[in-house]
Amino acid sequence: MKLKCVRIVPPLFTAFLLLTVRVALASEETADRLNQTAVGLQAHSDQGARMFVRYCSPCHGSQGEGDGDRAVPALAGQRFAYLVRQMTHFGSSTRDKAAVYHVTLAKHMSTPEMANDIAAYLNRLPPASGAKTGDGVTVELGSAIFREQCTTCHASDAGGDKEGVVPSLRNQHYNYLVNEIHLLADGRLHDADPGLVLFMRSFNEGDITAVADYLSRLHGPGGPHRRMLSNGIVVH
Ligand code: HEC
Ligand code: HEC
Repeated sequence: MKLKCVRIVPPLFTAFLLLTVRVALASEETADRLNQTAVGLQAHSDQGARMFVRYCSPCHGSQGEGDGDRAVPALAGQRFAYLVRQMTHFGSSTRDKAAVYHVTLAKHMSTPEMANDIAAYLNRLPPASGAKTGDGVTVELGSAIFREQCTTCHASDAGGDKEGVVPSLRNQHYNYLVNEIHLLADGRLHDADPGLVLFMRSFNEGDITAVADYLSRLHGPGGPHRRMLSNGIVVH
């Protein structure tokens, strides 16, 4: 297997990225009242389960396993705060890629209570196995890229950051990961700060498919199931 030389990002640059993302996240946190309210609420995951089965499982699967062929993401075991953030953004349409079905569904999931309940349900679901993978040819390259360039934010096991706003990348379908990395490079994910976008643009197609293939083979729950309250305090 060919292990090509991976561009090494200087630690200072990575630290700068981390800092700018944190600052960007912090200011959005202040602005986004909906999200703030949602993460601080008591969750009713039984209510979330009913909503999910009714409105979401036709695409995302009865166990939140997604659909690799249609590039529908697995949601089971994803970080709580990240899910809340994505859902509240569907409602306010700031998630650039929010598709028409999500905007339509937003009336069901954009209230803080509903986003919170569905996220709590999904976060506690056992992670789905059986993610669709790539062809396996450049997994070693993908692993090297991930270790050197992604773990500062997504954690070394790809389980996501401690606070929960950086997503877990485990149990995820290859096609979906490839699509998302393209969206990141296009600056179309709402929390992607300009530094991260520029960084992602330096990737070629081979780098993208390699890292997506590697990630699609990682399993296990997202990071510990912590919740971040509106005052920024993280609780278990
Ligand atoms: C018609 C199919 C469809 C339905 C119904 C649907 N989704 Fe999705 N969902 C998708 C697809 C496709 C994506 C990936 C592309 C995108 O983000 O638009 C996605 C992405 C997401 C994401 C982002 C995941 C991530 O890792 O960033 C979340 C969260 C989500 N959906 C939640 C929901 C919830 C909650 C419901 C029900 C209230 C729902 N979706 C209903 C198809 C659907
Ligand atoms: C500076 C921190 C940072 C670094 C470094 C970083 N990411 Fe991310 N990543 C994020 C954040 C924050 C999000 C969530 C964006 C959003 O909310 O829309 C994200 C989202 C993603 C997503 C979308 C996940 C989903 O479920 O939709 C993928 C895929 C991803 N990153 C892959 C990578 C890869 C591969 C690398 C390394 C090459 C990387 N990231 C490096 C912070 C980072």
